[in-house]
Amino acid sequence: MTRYVEFLKSVKLPEPSDILRFPETRQFGRYRSIFPHELWYFPAKMNTYLARYLVLRYSKPDEKVLDPFAGAFTIPIIAGLEGRIGIGVEIVPDFCMYAGVAKDRARKTLGFKDTLIYLGDSRQLSTIIKEHIPVDVIITSPPYEGQVDDKRDLERDAARLRVMGYDPKEYIRLTQAKWHYGERSSRNLGWITGRNYRKGMRKVMSEMWKVLKDDGLAVIVIKNSIRGGELYRNDLLMAYLMKLSKFEIVDHILFEIPSTSIWRHIWEKRGLFSVDLKYEHILVFKKKSG
Ligand SMILES: C[S@@+](CC[C@H](N)C(=O)[O-])C[C@H]1O[C@@H](n2cnc3c(N)ncnc32)[C@H](O)[C@@H]1O
Repeated sequence: MTRYVEFLKSVKLPEPSDILRFPETRQFGRYRSIFPHELWYFPAKMNTYLARYLVLRYSKPDEKVLDPFAGAFTIPIIAGLEGRIGIGVEIVPDFCMYAGVAKDRARKTLGFKDTLIYLGDSRQLSTIIKEHIPVDVIITSPPYEGQVDDKRDLERDAARLRVMGYDPKEYIRLTQAKWHYGERSSRNLGWITGRNYRKGMRKVMSEMWKVLKDDGLAVIVIKNSIRGGELYRNDLLMAYLMKLSKFEIVDHILFEIPSTSIWRHIWEKRGLFSVDLKYEHILVFKKKSG
């Protein structure tokens, strides 16, 4: 374990080339009427300004934009709305069901191209999306190691927010949080930790390599986190695992997490907030051809 953590310290990220700042998009911002209300309070969804920015920056109209960890399908739906073919794979059935509702609504918008919804385990990505290989770009935010262990914390966090004068319902629908994490299953990488998590992520990354076009880009959005009072450098871990999967890092961009973010309040309250938690890291990798 120690050896592994030591090794991570030797992973170097390029100096950030840019810092992005967008306002918070609680309840999906301008896309609120597209996504069903059951998804509005999903705490791990991507900021929709950021999702749209990444889609526009890294893909062209009609291209295939894949998210192997689709969650609320924020990226594949926005990709569809921007004239791309969004493809999402997600392991929790309810997310896929609600994504179907979002797609039906998005379809009525001028310029919508397509969003393909796949229920499945991205460790079998190349089989699941085989008729769409190669995809032009991958944009994703992966599950966090042991994320679901924090499920009980969610209830404590809600209590804390209430003390701070916030309405926790605004952020977390506790009853809904249960389905957000799906059934306890080692197939959901958010339920597992340590070696098993790293092994699962590596498998998905090697599948990402298989389905991506040569010289195509894979964009991973990740933030560092606190577990058991300790800082987890998820950015370094992703860079390390992607390198093992033959991807080359070509850019590093920061997204300043809006100060109203729930995570920031929670970490500040616990006295754990630090500069490492101020940003989401956008790591851009290239599939080396040959
Ligand atoms: C951080 S969330 C993605 C959030 C998404 N960007 C959004 O805007 O909603 C990661 C997602 O990966 C899903 N996931 C975990 N393991 C998976 C697997 N093996 N295959 C596919 N999806 C998986 C989780 O259920 C979760 O919804």
